[in-house]
Amino acid sequence: MLTGPNVILTLKIAVSAVTVLLLVSLVVLARGNYRLHGRINVVFFTLTLITVLGFEAIIQFIEPSIFQYIKDHAELRRALNIHLCFSVPSALLMPAMLYTGLSHRRQVHVILAVVFGLLWTGTVVTGVFLLPHSVSP
Ligand code: HEM
Repeated sequence: MLTGPNVILTLKIAVSAVTVLLLVSLVVLARGNYRLHGRINVVFFTLTLITVLGFEAIIQFIEPSIFQYIKDHAELRRALNIHLCFSVPSALLMPAMLYTGLSHRRQVHVILAVVFGLLWTGTVVTGVFLLPHSVSP
């Protein structure tokens, strides 16, 4: 059923899964396999993009009122705003990560990677722990 808590639960699973990919890409990077790091991150980028576009399709077009209960509830609204402070900039940085990696702009890529790493960590932590995937009684 297309409900707010179900969408949040699906997103938690999807984001956790792609985070495993990102972590694997960092392990292979540490072992010096830059090419495989790049390949894994092309997959990471594509899956994350599909997830974001699917999510946007739901909240903008298919069921725009799906998160009305969050907006009506001050505490949830606050939790969502905190989460958006991390998730929106991290999504905007992703194309730059892909571009600088593919074009071997190593210095810019590594500087952006520090910022992206912090924003992605914030996205995962606030998404998984602050946003409720069940309706409280
Ligand atoms: C978050 C921590 C990350 C670190 C520390 C990191 C670091 C690096 C380094 C040192 C390289 C080698 C650059 C060179 O060849 O000059 C590289 C390559 C690359 N990175 Fe990253 N990266 C990170 C995240 C990402 C992300 C999130 C993406 C994509 C969304 C990405 C995509 C790529 C690509 C496509 C390459 C080129 C691989 C190749 O040579 O075929 N990286 N990265």
